[in-house]
Amino acid sequence: MNAIEVRAVTKDFGKLAVLKGINLDVKQGEIFTLLGANGAGKSTLINILTTLSQPQSGTVSLMGLDPTKAGNHVRELISLNAQTATLDGEFTGAENLRLIAQLRGIKDQKVEIAAIATRLDLTGFLNRKVKTYSGGMRRRLDIAMSLIGDPQIVFLDEPTTGVDPQNRLALWRSIREIRDAGKTVFLTTQYLDEADALSDHIAFIHDGVIVKHGTPEEIKQRVTTTYTLQVAPNDKDAADQTLTTNGIDYTQGEHGISLTATNATKALTTLLSAQITIEHYDRDEADLESVFLNVTNREAANENA
Ligand SMILES: Nc1ncnc2c1ncn2[C@@H]1O[C@H](COP(=O)(O)OP(=O)(O)OP(=O)(O)O)[C@@H](O)[C@H]1O
Ligand SMILES: [Mg+2]
Repeated sequence: MNAIEVRAVTKDFGKLAVLKGINLDVKQGEIFTLLGANGAGKSTLINILTTLSQPQSGTVSLMGLDPTKAGNHVRELISLNAQTATLDGEFTGAENLRLIAQLRGIKDQKVEIAAIATRLDLTGFLNRKVKTYSGGMRRRLDIAMSLIGDPQIVFLDEPTTGVDPQNRLALWRSIREIRDAGKTVFLTTQYLDEADALSDHIAFIHDGVIVKHGTPEEIKQRVTTTYTLQVAPNDKDAADQTLTTNGIDYTQGEHGISLTATNATKALTTLLSAQITIEHYDRDEADLESVFLNVTNREAANENA
């Protein structure tokens, strides 16, 4: 069953069309990551999914429920860890957690808060005012708050932004634990390595629509892997000439001749048969970063055309 279904969702802010027909399925029990540049509309979509805002047109469903019709029911099933932290600095961590527990109508608050605090390594500073917390501690408390009441779908909008590497790893572990407990995680992040490491599925939002989606592996495979080839310094001109006369597309990169997967083998054999000395030949695996740049550059190229 899908935990989340989004169909043809649009959203404008005045003249600004932010979402132009979003379609998405998020499976129950997976970590799903929405990637996109600043201002792409990630938080806008999260607001719609979490009942904070309504789409102009299109439909969404969470665990089979329509948030525009069954908002209260949907709110019981989800939690939102918003991009702008909702913590109150004048209260202690424990008080912040108790507040949420009360809002959620939890009966055995002490037990639940203690269990969640232990899971997120918060026990040591639960009784300190939040304004004395470091950024990483705040993020952990944020996630702890979003776990109270055992929500089925947990929305985490950039949960690790500004967190140091060690705390990031700890947060990753917590996020995986949420998934491993059978919950669905809807994540946004600025960090592509994070998306790669955590996600079961990824979608890229760009110019108001989903331009790519799949598992991290699928997405990386779909982007052309590049090949780099270095010839002996004395053979450089001859190599240029040979590739050009044979109609092989290439670019002269910082580390040598850069080729796509489709013409790399042809370039190699042509150069070898022209007696050109190849000093180095290498394959650069695509990473999510190059997918991201590929998506955004293609757009820039279209705009300039
Ligand atoms: N309430 C609003 N009124 C007017 N414009 C808005 C409103 N909310 C968002 N926008 C605009 O919609 C666009 C998308 O914003 P959104 O916050 O969804 O982006 P985002 O992908 O979450 O970006 P970031 O990575 O910076 O968090 C932006 O241009 C933003 O200025
Ligand atoms: Mg945002």
